[in-house]
Amino acid sequence: MIEYENLKLLNAPFQDEINEAIIRVAKSGWFILGQELEKFEAEFAAFNGNKYCIGVASGLDALTLSLKYYNFSEGMEVIVPSNTYIATVLSIIQNGLKPVLVEPSMDTYNIDPVKIKEKITKNTCAVLVVHLYGRPCDMEPIVEICNVNNLVLIEDCAQAHGAKYNQKNVGTFGHVNAFSFYPTKNLGALGDAGAVVTDDPNIADKIRKLRNYGSSVKYYNEFVGMNSRLDEIQAAILSVKLKHLSKINQHKKELFQIYETGLSSMFIKPLPDDHKIYQVHHIYPIRSFHREKLRSYLLDNGIKTEIHYPVPPHKQRALNDYKTGDWGRVVGSYPIAEEIHETELSLPISFIHSKSEIERVVELLNRWQN
Ligand SMILES: Cc1ncc(COP(=O)(O)O)c(C=O)c1O
Repeated sequence: MIEYENLKLLNAPFQDEINEAIIRVAKSGWFILGQELEKFEAEFAAFNGNKYCIGVASGLDALTLSLKYYNFSEGMEVIVPSNTYIATVLSIIQNGLKPVLVEPSMDTYNIDPVKIKEKITKNTCAVLVVHLYGRPCDMEPIVEICNVNNLVLIEDCAQAHGAKYNQKNVGTFGHVNAFSFYPTKNLGALGDAGAVVTDDPNIADKIRKLRNYGSSVKYYNEFVGMNSRLDEIQAAILSVKLKHLSKINQHKKELFQIYETGLSSMFIKPLPDDHKIYQVHHIYPIRSFHREKLRSYLLDNGIKTEIHYPVPPHKQRALNDYKTGDWGRVVGSYPIAEEIHETELSLPISFIHSKSEIERVVELLNRWQN
């Protein structure tokens, strides 16, 4: 059986270092807002090319806190891709703001900059882009649109640790940007974790307070904050795993190359890197109009796959209340997002996979007759 992912195997090469980190924190008696967090924040900021990193409890909280910093008036609009994981959309709704969905490009699966312009109104306050599947968005025109229209730019980097656009890491283009360290991510904790990165000292200062009940001095609260602190054990584990991130990303790139050169044109393959784009291949998404048959065929032959994602945000029941009246901009037709969701199939591309396993996946796929 070739599994899609296996977190036990994924962390096994780093297990001794992880155990040592966990024991160190357990013995220290200091579990929240301590030196392990400060150390990881400094390391991740340096790795990513940001001045500040603020560790928080999850990727969703990193997005929610990024928007919360601005305290936008209720009902203002945030532009977001129609084909993202629902967390991106939830962070907007949880701030009392309106998600305005914009279709992606059918080639890159990332938000189409041309279509962003069409959706800007006098109520637009921010653009929240997502580097989906580990592929950076086309940031040049997006930054330009935000500058010209005086809009806040936020990057959702949950799937793209170490991905680069024009040689710069994602998470360095927006005013304030969010990462998830969910266990399956390229940089994954052993539980929930996330971070906000920024170069603006005012943003860093306020978000540091917002994650801690709006406080920097115990029992004195400046803002209506949240409890969203990245704990010491997860921070210590993330420091260990950050040292291995480049190796993990490089391994995934080598697996991508096997698919890229070997896989038949019967499947719609993701685009490779180009002179601007350096991807980190969080997911290897192919598309097929016979996805269910293909998925069963692979499973029958011992290969597990995933779908990212079966239902787009605008079709989720959770958003039913936001599809009517004043919220009407979530409704409407998003045929590109729908087609991606109906045809996408994620093939194995983890650090746990050997090259020969991926060659076997390619061989089986090329033999498929639908
Ligand atoms: C694109 C995207 N945004 C946000 C999130 C939310 O991250 P978390 O699960 O850590 O809250 C995820 C992760 O699942 C994601 O893939």
